[in-house]
Amino acid sequence: MTARTLHTAGITGTGMSFPEKVLTNADLEKMVETNDEWIVERTGIKERRLCEPGVPASHHGTLAAREAMAMAGVEPEEIDLIVVPTVTPDMLFPSTACIIQKALGCTNAWGYDLSAACSAFLFALQTARAQIESGAVRKVLVIGTEVMSSIMDMTDRNTCILFGDGAGAVVVERLPEGQQGIVDHLHHVDGGGAEFLYMPAGGSLHPATAETVAQGMHYIHQEGREVYKRAVKGMTEVTIDIIERNEVPAEDVKLFVPHQANLRIIEAVQRRVGLVDEQVAVNIDRFGNTTSATIPSALHMHQTAGDLKPGDWIVLAAFGAGFTWGSTLLRWSVDA
Ligand code: UT7
Repeated sequence: MTARTLHTAGITGTGMSFPEKVLTNADLEKMVETNDEWIVERTGIKERRLCEPGVPASHHGTLAAREAMAMAGVEPEEIDLIVVPTVTPDMLFPSTACIIQKALGCTNAWGYDLSAACSAFLFALQTARAQIESGAVRKVLVIGTEVMSSIMDMTDRNTCILFGDGAGAVVVERLPEGQQGIVDHLHHVDGGGAEFLYMPAGGSLHPATAETVAQGMHYIHQEGREVYKRAVKGMTEVTIDIIERNEVPAEDVKLFVPHQANLRIIEAVQRRVGLVDEQVAVNIDRFGNTTSATIPSALHMHQTAGDLKPGDWIVLAAFGAGFTWGSTLLRWSVDA
């Protein structure tokens, strides 16, 4: 066996891509029994972006990845690995990673999709980090991309107001010796939560049939209140645990990037952790819940706004179907 050395991994580029089409709360008022006031008060969402029919997840994933590679100064052939966290792959197989690999011309990359719902970007970031730290690869693309509109029931007001389409991507690279990047992660799964947030049909349990389609089993089903309670508890605990065990005081966190499912969840976690508004990334008002794209797109927005500098402490946290949840602690490592 070849001896492996331990390296450090860090984010060196970010990107995002969203469809042009905007669906406002006023538009939704014409589609289901709802109103702007309810949606803003209960979720913080003002509008979201939707893909035109026929646009797959790989489309915006490819555009976001291209932007991240440009920021990192990395050519497609240099990418060793592509990991695509998503619940809305182009197809069940081949993986969306394969489709994006071809579109980008990453001729030397291997890759795969990763299924962990709203926590999938963090789980994917950790697999990228582990691959780099082991010495197996040097440059990885992690691309969270979703076409949530492909699994949304636009007649169900409980869910159709919540989600949106779009993509966020990061380049993760082996860093020069001595430089800190991704420092720590904490991940959890509780399969007991499966019944509260799921898409019943389209897998091997209920393959697509005329009947599953007639019953709307290929749409998102959610018990919002139960998920809400568990999300606040789970995200608060993993955020406090990761900063405490790394002895990073809450006031030293430059940016906290929570998964964007509901502004009230974000605010509840913020209060419990003891953070001020300036420390917390929010883009749910513009994009809704874009599942695996929320965290990388928020990182990109803060990077391009000039809010971040190398060495800043950043904490990421997510909660999603499964249940799955987790946090990541990192030192910012983008030079651009
Ligand atoms: O990203 C994956 C993780 N997902 C989450 O973290 C989502 C967690 N859950 C939530 O964000 C919230 O539970 C929701 C936003 C989904 C719902 O908010 P809520 O404050 O928990 O509302 P609720 O489901 O308890 O419903 C309250 C009322 C109900 O009416 P009644 O029974 O009190 O008469 C609903 O029928 O609001 C009604 N309602 C609506 N009214 C207007 C539900 N949806 C709507 C709507 N417009 N769109």
